[in-house]
Amino acid sequence: MAAPFPSSLDFIGHNMPSRIECEIHDLVIEGRLPEEINGTWFHLVPDPQFPPLLGEDVYISGDGMIRAFRFESGRIHFRQRYIQTERWKLERAAGRALYGLYRNPFTDDPSVRGKGRGVANTTPIFHGGRLLALKEDSRAWELDPRTLETLGEFDYNGKLRSQTMTAHPRLDPETGELYFFGYEAGGLATRDVAYCVANRDGELVREDWFQVPYCSLMHDFIVTKEHAVFPVFPVTCDLERLKAGGSHWAWDPSKETWFGVMPRDGKVSDMRWFRAPPCFVFHFLNGYTEGSRVHVDACYSDVPAFAFIREAGGLHIGPDRIRGQLVRWTFDLSKPGDRVEETPLGPPGDMPRVADKDLMVDYEIGYYMNYNPEFGPPINTGPANVGFNAVTRIELKTGKLTTLPVGATNTAQEHVHIASKQPGHEGYLAFIVDRHDENQAEVWVVEAQHLDRGPIARAKIPLRLRCGVHGNWVPAEAL
Ligand SMILES: [Fe+2]
Repeated sequence: MAAPFPSSLDFIGHNMPSRIECEIHDLVIEGRLPEEINGTWFHLVPDPQFPPLLGEDVYISGDGMIRAFRFESGRIHFRQRYIQTERWKLERAAGRALYGLYRNPFTDDPSVRGKGRGVANTTPIFHGGRLLALKEDSRAWELDPRTLETLGEFDYNGKLRSQTMTAHPRLDPETGELYFFGYEAGGLATRDVAYCVANRDGELVREDWFQVPYCSLMHDFIVTKEHAVFPVFPVTCDLERLKAGGSHWAWDPSKETWFGVMPRDGKVSDMRWFRAPPCFVFHFLNGYTEGSRVHVDACYSDVPAFAFIREAGGLHIGPDRIRGQLVRWTFDLSKPGDRVEETPLGPPGDMPRVADKDLMVDYEIGYYMNYNPEFGPPINTGPANVGFNAVTRIELKTGKLTTLPVGATNTAQEHVHIASKQPGHEGYLAFIVDRHDENQAEVWVVEAQHLDRGPIARAKIPLRLRCGVHGNWVPAEAL
């Protein structure tokens, strides 16, 4: 029988592993779901099938569980399934965890030495006719978009040399190209980064390697119509620390933040490096090029949001002491020097998103999630151990904000944007709202332009849904 999970923040309360694979046909909906919304929202959640081998581990180490909400003519059908990675299958056969600490193979059971460690738990993307589940420490896993069955590890038919693929590829909606990178591309703790492009058919057409100043947690990057920007934040990996059984990542503010900026279709040797004080960003809202100036909009924080990364670097503070902001960083390629211009845009938050049509170009509207203590006390959920309790729409040109709090005893998971076919309509946002007082969940659908009016439809899920990471919307016609 399975042993109990640890009693640490990443495993208790709403963070308790769910391990439930299920299907609910035709969710009960309060309100009215517009019939024009047809497609599937895929969402990934880390959900460990067994308690950690070493007694403790972190949230983001959990096995990937894929959720699908299929919207069809005013109805929503729900399904969630484990992704059966090599790691999942080996542990399922053994009946216990075999892999040790997050991204530290030196802590694994000897029986899995050299076996795949990927858990495919971060971002589902649909590109080139394939549904891929991504996790930045390994290659993608391909899934059947209808049944959610795991089809196998995906390496672009043997072409991808990088050992890793980011969970934040960037789609050019005009060309259909997928821009992505892999860091630690050449192996654990290396400075190797692979810059890659897949064409609209999902074929790898570019892979060029370069080195970053130090091995860094490069979670996301930015691609504009003309440039690619690679951020290097001072969360570092050290091979000796790994061999000693330590954390893959540690916050190291003795290092600077670096940004590599290159022409997106140019050579990696043309990378120009900019520098800034130490800070951290998991996610970028968007970016675009305006003449010689490259703008990058970021969910900035002064230190990393994950406690295990701060603490490995000796910083022991609660999440209430982290300072954040939505900021714009501008790199002026016509000027000499390596400094970055910074412009504040909005209040702190994360999980930013724009409409697909606005990716890579000058844009007016963004959406992101926030935790605001004015809306309620912090609730432990997700890897940062504080759930979001509001979603915000920002008009970038004027700074106008519209915020929808989700309730003092509720939290919200990442939203997706769903385009409308109606002219002049800004589309919809859909997101899971965790109802902690009932231990259940709802999917809220709101009109993006009228966030303040609240949900137009609330789909009921009679289950606790462990906090997911990222999701993506795939229109029915694309599937
Ligand atoms: Fe992410």
